[in-house]
Amino acid sequence: MSYQIGSYTLKSKLLLAPMAGITDRPYRDVCRQYGAGLTSSEMITSDLSLLKTRKTQQRLPQRNEPSPRSAQIVGTEPHVMAEAAKFNVDLGAEIIDINMGCPAKKVCNKAAGSALMKDTKLVAEILEKIVAAVDVPVTLKIRTGWESTHRNALEVARIAENAGIASLAIHGRTRNQGYTGHAEYETIRQIKHAIDIPVLANGDIKTIEDALFILNYTNVDGLMLGRISHGQPWIFKEINDILVDAAPTFPIKLEEKIDTTLKHIDAIHRYYGTDQGVRIARKHIGWYLSSLVGQQQKLLKPLTKEIYPISCSKKQLQKLESILLAL
Ligand SMILES: Cc1cc2nc3c(=O)[nH]c(=O)nc-3n(C[C@H](O)[C@H](O)[C@H](O)COP(=O)(O)O)c2cc1C
Repeated sequence: MSYQIGSYTLKSKLLLAPMAGITDRPYRDVCRQYGAGLTSSEMITSDLSLLKTRKTQQRLPQRNEPSPRSAQIVGTEPHVMAEAAKFNVDLGAEIIDINMGCPAKKVCNKAAGSALMKDTKLVAEILEKIVAAVDVPVTLKIRTGWESTHRNALEVARIAENAGIASLAIHGRTRNQGYTGHAEYETIRQIKHAIDIPVLANGDIKTIEDALFILNYTNVDGLMLGRISHGQPWIFKEINDILVDAAPTFPIKLEEKIDTTLKHIDAIHRYYGTDQGVRIARKHIGWYLSSLVGQQQKLLKPLTKEIYPISCSKKQLQKLESILLAL
């Protein structure tokens, strides 16, 4: 059931996918509570001049976070990224994850994220420089390629293995697909068979059945879960339980889910302070409501309409509690 990254044996083979604007400290905490094997930070710029801004500081993994702490960095230039990796390690990161999987414009305009996969010479240089710069495991997250006619993930995977990358996560879409279409797992299966480092499959794992199918089909060592965890961090426990026992365990009770939801929103308020906290909490509230109303999705719109305008953290939490207790 475990997953190995360098000398770290993770307790679960289900890892949380890094998601900018989402996988902040409160989110990482609640996913770990439900058994996520590793929860990486949101992506952190390699631009050292920005690393000291409040926004970036909030994104860094923190020393009081459970070990191993993983920081995901994004950038373009090998020596700059190597410096950023060192900076994060000095701040307490125990694993450095390199983002070559993000198609976001802001990143790709600077030819970072998944755009880097087009230039395999540069990929090799970046990986080698970062691995040499830090004495912690370095992991890599990629897509299947640049576009459907240039699926070069296997080539990049071999480069990663040769450079000393400790674990490879592959999102089963090309860069040009963005988040459209469907993830495919054939490329991931081929990579798993071709290299000897641990491999994680990622993309469109929406149900327990998907998770079991992908593990079986690709033979990967673990899975990276992203959007499925929105509003239901307990999904890690639900899938983990099945992987361990091969049989469904008792479902998590609604009362526990409500308690977790309220504690998570309260943690967001405390982490960001009232104003920013209320704003950031809104999207999580939307996801939790969507997951907790279950079949009664028609309730969602009126409920979100009731709670979204609230700008006071205490009132936001009280309103959420009264809505959830009435479910
Ligand atoms: C809102 C959002 C933000 C994301 N930010 C990042 C990021 O910062 N770094 C990264 O490597 N991938 C990022 N991703 C991609 C996810 O890690 C993951 O690869 C993708 O969502 C597919 O997995 P899923 O279908 O399980 O969500 C992001 C995805 C979403 C939806």
